[in-house]
Amino acid sequence: KEASSIFEAIGGQAKINELVDAFYARVQKHPDLIPIFPNNFTEIARKQKQFLTQFFGGPPLYIQEHGHPMMKRRHAPFPITPTRRDAWLTCMEGALEEAQIEEPFRSAMFDRLILTANHMMNTPEPEK
Ligand code: HEM
Repeated sequence: KEASSIFEAIGGQAKINELVDAFYARVQKHPDLIPIFPNNFTEIARKQKQFLTQFFGGPPLYIQEHGHPMMKRRHAPFPITPTRRDAWLTCMEGALEEAQIEEPFRSAMFDRLILTANHMMNTPEPEK
């Protein structure tokens, strides 16, 4: 049987969990991202696993616990500049590789995440 979603095709929940853990290990060390993230990543990693599961066609775990995603609104308290968008995407690109997600899924996932990350920007670059 052919996989009916990216979620299934890449290996389901175990693969999403691996991806998200690899992602926050990078975010935690990224100088552009440290200032806006909490010190403890347990809760955000849990939510991100739920969110990306549903985002890539798996069960609607995020909405079941947290309601409508409203991602732009949930990011409004955090100043997301173009530099931070790029940093977030760099961490995600590394995580997709580390989790060994195969093509064509890796590029399909990254392309969708680029669109969402662009949408999350809410603050111009501060002047130097
Ligand atoms: C939450 C940063 C893009 C999904 C957060 C938080 C920060 C953040 C600071 C809150 C952490 C806390 O709870 O204190 C960023 C930055 C981005 C970005 C800098 C760069 C563009 C994205 C994208 C997605 C995403 C593209 C999804 C594809 C989430 C989710 C949460 C979250 C699911 C948890 C929301 C909740 O509280 O329920 N993000 N984010 N983020 N972000 Fe992002």
